[in-house]
Amino acid sequence: MATPKSLSKARITALGTYVPDKILTNEDLERLVDTSDEWIVQRTGIKERHIAAEDEFTSHLCIRAAERLRETYGAALDDVDLIIASTTTPDFSFPTVSCRVQQYFGMERAGAIDLNATCAGFAYALHLANGMISSGLHRKILVVAGETMSKITDYTDRSTCILFGDGAGAVLVEADPELSGGFESVILGTNGAGGIHVYRTGLAEQMDGQPLEGKGKIVQNGREVFKWAVRTVSAGIEQLLEQAELTREDIDWFVPHSANLRMIESICEKADLPLAKTLQSVQDMGNTSSASIPLALQAGVNSGRLKFGDRVLLYGFGSGLTHAGLLLRWDVPDLS
Ligand code: UT7
Repeated sequence: MATPKSLSKARITALGTYVPDKILTNEDLERLVDTSDEWIVQRTGIKERHIAAEDEFTSHLCIRAAERLRETYGAALDDVDLIIASTTTPDFSFPTVSCRVQQYFGMERAGAIDLNATCAGFAYALHLANGMISSGLHRKILVVAGETMSKITDYTDRSTCILFGDGAGAVLVEADPELSGGFESVILGTNGAGGIHVYRTGLAEQMDGQPLEGKGKIVQNGREVFKWAVRTVSAGIEQLLEQAELTREDIDWFVPHSANLRMIESICEKADLPLAKTLQSVQDMGNTSSASIPLALQAGVNSGRLKFGDRVLLYGFGSGLTHAGLLLRWDVPDLS
């Protein structure tokens, strides 16, 4: 699915993120499974990840991220009129994470909805927020993306336990009084036949007639996801640029889902984008699913690389299989 060039009347105006204190290093993993720091760094680029405490869940991380957003935004969030929470790892099926966030901040005028588009969830949530604001139905939407992947990771499976980490990010999407349009182009796509990457907590005991393994934990075919993502995202980038009538040189920052550094390198190579113009969170945080893009944006802000007015191409992809890419202007004021 593709949209015409810039019909957007929305922009991102604030960012906040949070990761739990506890760190799980590659050396820690060497003590759990038959792996090595060398293998993990060489195949994934990951050095460490943050892990939630036993009594810390996705809504707690999202609330912390939104608190940090409120600090830098410098104003209350009372007039938020919709909360969209992206997560694959909610505390409960219900009440939803977005309802827990609403309760904490007492946003009395806000609707609340959770969304699960796996690791592409943040990009999907931004797409929805842009659409709701551009239609005139909403004026200020809080998007939170949070994950406690450690709680669904099997720490006896070396092919998955080295990958995942926990964290959350929050952005504010607001109506743009100048109607200049912060969102320039979007692409969405799905390959539902690619269900080779399963987290089994739903009600079904089997999928398409096949019994499922790993109740309550992630099971994946990493190599297949890798190949699909490199092919799909590089083609999506081409389409996004074409739609927006832009060239690679117009892009200040490429922010793909941070699943694996080697995967990011392969996407850049195939899409002909310089790695130096990439923001990622995978090295220090692992794969944090839908939280990985806001965490990478935060890394860009903290290091002074991502600046007000920069053009960002962000791209989420993950289980489903599903993907979403967006071209947008970064409208968050620089911290002085
Ligand atoms: O968030 C989006 C969804 N998920 C992903 O994006 C995951 C994408 N895929 C990946 O990141 C990579 O496929 C992995 C990091 C998961 C695996 O890397 P790979 O280079 O594709 O390795 P592989 O699965 O093909 O396995 C190669 C070998 C195997 O040994 P044999 O059969 O060749 O003897 C594995 O058993 O590496 C072995 N292996 C390990 N060895 C040491 C797998 N995991 C480990 C490990 N340490 N942790």
